[in-house]
This record gives sequence, C-alpha cells and structure tokens, in this order.
Amino acid sequence: MARLRRRRRGRGRVYVLLGLLVVVPSVFYYFYTEIRPTVIFGLRDDYAHAIPFQDVPAGLDSLSAESCGQCHQAIYEEWKTSIHAHAYRDPFFQAYWKKDGYVWVCLNCHTPLENQQPTLIKEIPNNRVERAVEVENPRYDMAYQEEGVTCAACHVRDGKILGPFDDSAAPHPTEYDPAFRTTAICYRCHNVVSGPFQFYNVGPCGTYAEYEGEFFMKEQGFTCQHCHMPEISRPVAEGGPIRQGRRHLWRGGHDPEMIKRAVAIQVRADPPNPKRGEPVTMTLTLINAGAGHKIPTGDPDRHFTVEFYVKDRTGRILEQQTDTMGRWIFWQPVILEVYDNRLLPLASRDYEFSYELPEAGSDLVLEARVQYHILTDGQHTMLRETYGLRSDDPYRYTIYTRQFPLNDKLATALSTERPVEARLGCPAQENGVHPESPGPVRGHHDLLTIG
Ligand code: HEC
Ligand code: HEC
Ligand code: HEC
Ligand code: HEC
Ligand code: HEC
Repeated sequence: MARLRRRRRGRGRVYVLLGLLVVVPSVFYYFYTEIRPTVIFGLRDDYAHAIPFQDVPAGLDSLSAESCGQCHQAIYEEWKTSIHAHAYRDPFFQAYWKKDGYVWVCLNCHTPLENQQPTLIKEIPNNRVERAVEVENPRYDMAYQEEGVTCAACHVRDGKILGPFDDSAAPHPTEYDPAFRTTAICYRCHNVVSGPFQFYNVGPCGTYAEYEGEFFMKEQGFTCQHCHMPEISRPVAEGGPIRQGRRHLWRGGHDPEMIKRAVAIQVRADPPNPKRGEPVTMTLTLINAGAGHKIPTGDPDRHFTVEFYVKDRTGRILEQQTDTMGRWIFWQPVILEVYDNRLLPLASRDYEFSYELPEAGSDLVLEARVQYHILTDGQHTMLRETYGLRSDDPYRYTIYTRQFPLNDKLATALSTERPVEARLGCPAQENGVHPESPGPVRGHHDLLTIG
C-alpha cells in the first residue's frame, strides 16, 4: 500500500514537471507575443494612423515645403533649420529606427502624412504593431518623406490650408482653425502614451502631460508656441500686409542655447569665507527657470549631469563627483520607471560637494560643470557599433562650467557669481533675434524645492 502511494506520488511529480515544461515557456511566449508591446510606447487612436492622404489644394502646384516657400519664404527658411524638417533624416532617429526593425508606426509622427509613407496599414490585430497588415502605398512619394514633419502635416486638410487667421486673402483656399493658437496643435505627436505593461510615470515622450496644468499654462496662459515659436511681426506671404505671426523654429534639446535658457544656476560656499585647513561645502543650485515642462523632457534618454572636479595646476583630477538628473527606467522584462528626479517648472535642486581646503596656500581649483545629454554614452556606443550611427552630431554638451580657487580667494571668486534670476518667459532665439519677453516673474511665486 505504502509502496503504491509512493509510486503514484513519483508519477505525480513527473506530471507536474512535464506540465511546467509546457506552461512556463507558453507563459513567456504569450507574454512576449500577446502582452508586452514590441515598441516602447502604446498606441492611441490618432497616431496609430497616418494623417490621411492630402491632395494639393486648388491654386497650388505642389505640397512640398519648398513650393510653399515661394511665397512664405521666411517661414520656409526657418522650418528648414528646425528638427521637424529633419525628423526623418535625423541620424539618431535613423539609428533607433533601424534598431526597431524599421517598424511602420514611427513614421506616423516622424513622416506623418500618408503621402510620405511607403505602406498603408489596413488593420492592426489586437493593437499589436508587429502584426499590422501592410500593403504597398501606390501614392508614396519618397522625396516627400525626406521632409519629415512638413508644412502640410500641420496645415493641409481636405484641400484647404488651415491657419490662425480668419481674414487672409490667399491664392489657395484657407480656413481658420483655432487649434493653431492652442497646445492642441502639438498634442498628437508630443504626448506619446504608455502601452500595456509599460509602467512609466508619464509616457516616454510625454512633454504635453508634463506641462498640462503647470505654472506656465495656469498662471501665465502660455502655450508651447510661446517658447518654441517666438512671436514676430512681418508679412505672412511675400508682399502681403504685416501681421503678428510666429517663427517656425522649434528649438529644443539639440540647441545648447535653448537648454541654457531653461536653467538658472548658482554656486555658493559654506562657510562663505573658509580658512585654510577648514572643510568647505560647495552647493550648486539648478533651477528650471525657463521651460514650461519638466527638464529634461521628451525622449527618456535625455538627462543632465552635475559634475565637480578638484584639479591641480596641471589639470590632473584629484577628486570628482557626478550626479545625474533624469529618469531611471528598467526596460526588461517589463518597462518600469523606478525613479524620476527631473525638475518641474520653477523647481530647483541643490547639489553638494565637500572638500577640505589645503593647509598651505594652494593652487587647486574646484571646477563645477553642468552637461546636457541627448543620449547616454552607452546608448551612443551601441548605436554607433551596432546600428550604423555615423553622425558626428554632438550628443552631449556643456551648458555651464566655472572654476573656483580652493584657497583664500574663494569668497572673492564666488562674489562674482551672478545671482539666480528666474528668466521666465519666451526664450530668445538664435540669429540674435530676441523677441519680446514678458520679463521675469516677480514675487508671487516662490521657487519650489524638491528632492
Ligand atoms: C503663390 C503664393 C503662395 C503659395 C505657393 C502658398 N501660399 Fe500660403 N498664403 C499666400 C498668401 C498671399 C496668403 C495670405 C497672406 C495674408 O493674408 O496676410 C497665404 C496664407 C497662408 C496661411 C494663413 C492662412 C490663414 O488664414 O490663417 C497659411 C497657413 C499658409 N498660407 C500656408 C501655406 C502652405 C502650407 C503652402 C504650401 C502647401 C502655401 N501656403 C503656399 C500665398 C501662398
Ligand atoms: C506631426 C507630428 C508633430 C507635431 C504636430 C509637432 N511635432 Fe514637434 N516633433 C515631432 C518629432 C517627430 C520630433 C523629433 C524629431 C527628431 O528629433 O527626430 C519633434 C521635435 C520637437 C522639438 C524638439 C527639438 C529638439 O531639439 O529636440 C520641439 C521643441 C518641438 N518638436 C516642438 C513642437 C511644438 C511646439 C509643436 C506644436 C506647435 C509641435 N512640436 C508639433 C513631431 C511633431
Ligand atoms: C508642427 C506644426 C507646423 C508646421 C510643420 C508648420 N507650421 Fe506653420 N504654423 C503653425 C502654427 C502653430 C502657426 C500659428 C502661429 C501663430 O499663432 O501665429 C503657424 C502659422 C503659419 C502661418 C501664418 C503666419 C504666422 O506666422 O502665424 C503660415 C503662413 C505658415 N504657418 C506656413 C507654414 C509653412 C510654409 C510651413 C512649412 C515650411 C509651415 N507653416 C510648417 C504650425 C506649423
Ligand atoms: C516657458 C517656455 C516653454 C514652454 C511653455 C514650453 N517649452 Fe518646451 N522647452 C523649453 C525650453 C527652454 C526647452 C529646452 C530645455 C530642454 O530641452 O529640456 C524646451 C525643450 C522642449 C523639447 C525638447 C526636449 C529635448 O531634449 O529634445 C520639446 C520636445 C518641447 N520642449 C516641447 C514642448 C511642448 C510640446 C510644449 C507645450 C505642451 C512646450 N514644450 C512648452 C521651453 C518651453
Ligand atoms: C506619437 C508620435 C511619435 C511616434 C509614434 C514616434 N516618435 Fe520618435 N519622437 C517623437 C517626438 C515628439 C520626439 C521629440 C521628443 C524630444 O525631442 O524629446 C521624438 C524623438 C525621437 C528620437 C530622438 C531624436 C533625437 O534627435 O534625439 C528618436 C531616436 C525617436 N524619436 C525614434 C523613434 C522610433 C524608433 C519610433 C518608433 C519605434 C518613434 N520614434 C515613434 C514622436 C514620436
């Protein structure tokens, strides 16, 4: 009897083991093919599809940006320098797109018009990007794809040119669309959402969500255009009346000057006038003084580093410290955002570094440096080595650097540090054109401190 039971139990174990051998791989298979999305974001109805095919409006002979530029020359010249115009050719996009197997969905924002896409998507079973039913697009225009986020992506619908005015006299049909003066025009592409089993705080490129309801919107009534498309008075079309319009520049993370406008930095010492042999704590305060959303925003690779170096006369580094501001995300097996220490608008954070001043008169210096990174060094190496990134475009740059003597002269050096001044408002833009800024915000809104 006892022996029989034992044999049965033995057989039971074999069944359990066999069962596990079948179930475990099936669960994994099911998880990776049915649950976990193959791209790092979820689909939303609008950007799950291309902007439908657009015909050339009456009175025009082409949809190309260059042809719009015949009459809207200034706008065309600005757009050409913008990252929107390069959203397809952008070497960072091309490398990541290659990594993602050239999956179609990326094109819905980077080359958003059906006219610009080689395939048409007929169906997306279970919202699974990799199972989409693709057919060839007979009206695909390869040259037009190169234009990335082109004029028509925002302005052309159903044979009409949509715009911010209700009284223009144009050689093409026009229609007033109030969305041009609100953030709605940016929403579709700048609010990328999370998919199933993707636990982000906000979606991977969720600038819109990091902005909505924050200070600039609520109290200043700002839109994205206030900072990214500075106001200007000029003729809208060659020879037309002067109107209040906006420059089509969209500067952001690729422009060091724009980054500098987002941050205010102050350095101080404690004690303020340290003696030889005394420990001194240097504090660098970083403030999000000029962006209407978190800094850094958008692409989850973006981050700041705050670095301190003690160097001798020959530049040799004796001691160093690096702190990072950004998002910490596990990408496997599920996407899990564990930590986000980015700065909300008007928030600030202190970074501290302590050092003992040498006894003898020294020529050591403390170098404080803040860098902005478009990619991590690891991602950059991976993209270069595996995905053909060949661009020499900088992927990180210094936005602040200063040296302070670690001796009796420290206090004097610090006294020339400019005090922090919240430079809120429209960041001035390149080419020396400084559009009117609403000026610094005074009084009523104290700087928030987090972390
Ligand atoms: C042959 C010249 C010409 C061409 C080509 C042209 N436009 Fe225009 N467009 C005009 C003129 C003139 C106006 C009206 C200017 C005014 O009233 O101040 C205008 C007005 C506009 C407006 C403002 C509409 C509103 O009511 O708010 C937009 C937007 C616009 N054009 C976009 C485009 C785009 C995009 C293209 C290319 C697909 C294009 N235009 C091609 C001449 C042209
Ligand atoms: C059709 C989609 C689309 C719309 C609409 C759109 N964008 Fe973008 N935008 C993009 C894409 C794609 C990129 C990234 C391109 C790249 O880096 O390859 C981008 C990049 C940017 C950048 C970053 C530049 C940088 O240096 O990294 C800014 C700023 C920006 N957009 C502002 C705006 C604003 C403001 C609006 C609304 C007026 C807007 N965008 C509307 C697709 C769009
Ligand atoms: C990412 C979306 C986007 C793209 C791409 C875009 N525009 Fe605009 N455009 C806007 C917005 C937003 C405004 C409204 C600015 C304002 O409030 O005056 C505007 C305004 C205009 C106006 C009216 C004049 C003005 O300054 O307000 C013209 C003309 C125009 N755009 C032409 C173009 C042309 C030509 C291109 C391509 C070379 C282009 N746009 C690309 C978003 C876009
Ligand atoms: C008060 C000014 C202000 C407002 C309002 C604002 N931005 Fe920005 N934005 C900035 C500054 C300054 C930067 C540069 C700092 C950075 O990249 O982190 C920036 C950066 C960006 C970037 C580039 C991120 C990167 O590193 O590539 C994007 C994308 C962007 N903004 C989109 C938007 C959108 C979309 C809105 C509206 C929902 C908006 N911004 C509203 C000032 C503003
Ligand atoms: C819903 C719109 C949307 C979709 C879909 C989308 N992107 Fe983007 N992408 C953006 C926007 C907006 C930015 C700019 C954000 C920023 O600069 O912070 C961007 C920026 C990027 C950048 C950074 C470029 C640079 O110069 O630093 C890369 C790389 C990129 N996207 C790759 C992809 C790939 C690969 C896919 C498909 C798997 C994809 N994107 C799908 C909207 C989109």
